[in-house]
Amino acid sequence: MNDRTITERVTFHEAIATMEVDFSCLTFADAAQVDAAYDDIERRLAETGRRWYFLVIYTDCVIVPEAWERFAERGKNANIGHGLGSVRVGATAQTRDAIRESAGRDFFRANIYDTRDQAMLALGEMRKRRRDTQSAAEDIFLRVQNVSLRFGGVKAITGVSFEIKRGEITSIIGPNGAGKSSMLNVINGVYHPQEGTITFLGNVRHQMRPHEAALQGIARTFQNIALFKGMSVLDNIMTGRNLKMKANILQQAFWLGPAQREELEHRRKVEEIIDFLEIQHIRKTPVGRLPYGLQKRVDLARALAMEPQLLLLDEPMAGMNVEEKQDMCRFILDLNDQFGTTVLLIEHDMGVVMDLSDFVVVLDHGEKIADGTADEVRADPLVISAYLGASH
Ligand SMILES: Nc1ncnc2c1ncn2[C@@H]1O[C@H](COP(=O)(O)OP(=O)(O)O)[C@@H](O)[C@H]1O
Ligand SMILES: [Mg+2]
Repeated sequence: MNDRTITERVTFHEAIATMEVDFSCLTFADAAQVDAAYDDIERRLAETGRRWYFLVIYTDCVIVPEAWERFAERGKNANIGHGLGSVRVGATAQTRDAIRESAGRDFFRANIYDTRDQAMLALGEMRKRRRDTQSAAEDIFLRVQNVSLRFGGVKAITGVSFEIKRGEITSIIGPNGAGKSSMLNVINGVYHPQEGTITFLGNVRHQMRPHEAALQGIARTFQNIALFKGMSVLDNIMTGRNLKMKANILQQAFWLGPAQREELEHRRKVEEIIDFLEIQHIRKTPVGRLPYGLQKRVDLARALAMEPQLLLLDEPMAGMNVEEKQDMCRFILDLNDQFGTTVLLIEHDMGVVMDLSDFVVVLDHGEKIADGTADEVRADPLVISAYLGASH
């Protein structure tokens, strides 16, 4: 190929998060040469364990037509795996067309510049844009944007948008069938809306599976309790820790080293939650034998065991007597206070909603008809008529 190895042609500019690759005066005569070069580049990238902007110098670089396809494919893969964005210098019109054509995307921008200085300027702009959008996104804890969800002909949710601030308690209220549970299921990745996006902790997503939501820190309780009725309270709560368990099965089976330390850490966390929810006295009791109110509390404990950033509660007080409701209210306020957990709950009891909520979202027939503080929505004529049934 040439005197310098590819490794010598790669430079990492830490300060500007940029990997520079100098392909100048190189000839890629076939796919094997492309692979050899990109294997080296990918290895170097992988060693850094992070993503980089790519600055690629193509001055007097020749890629023969038979090698184009592989060249574009490898470049694209490097981008997907390790890239933040690419700028290119000095590519001939032929090389540019090859890069464009093979990228296989209509909106692909080749970002080709005549000089290295121009490319560096463009790279600076690129970094700035990313910083701006990132910091804007990071300020958002949870944003639901224009979400619509249909089941066949049934419109469960239509064009709903709202935001939840970190550390706040938000309630969703609305008549039966308003789309409240569906909204929770969209947020935790169980339902995939046909339209709209969810932004959680700076990540925008269109679709997400429930376990991914859990890994990102979203936990929920269910309208109909989903506990293992034959298992003890303690074991049920431990299931909430499963996602957090890292030690492998073999280590766990032999109770070795990391697994042992991990298990002890899990038990400590679970005991803390048991204390917090005041259920020490029933820790060994099979869940099926507990009264309904306590089962709800165990379900909450299981969700808390996941140490969620966002806790979704679907009618946590449904079917409870006044005393149980008061307990549950206190626990929600306390966990929000002590653990800083952000809470989104569905609740029918307006008294409870008034007591708990920093912010209220009102749904009716799948549409948002109001949002604001509890006092604001309570005074809203649309809300009043929805609750009195006037609009039905
Ligand atoms: N899995 C589903 N399949 C079909 N229709 C559904 C499903 N889940 C909810 N729906 C429908 O979507 C609408 C909203 O339901 P839901 O979100 O459960 O309301 P809410 O929790 O406010 O009572 C209802 O018309 C309901 O029948
Ligand atoms: Mg519901």
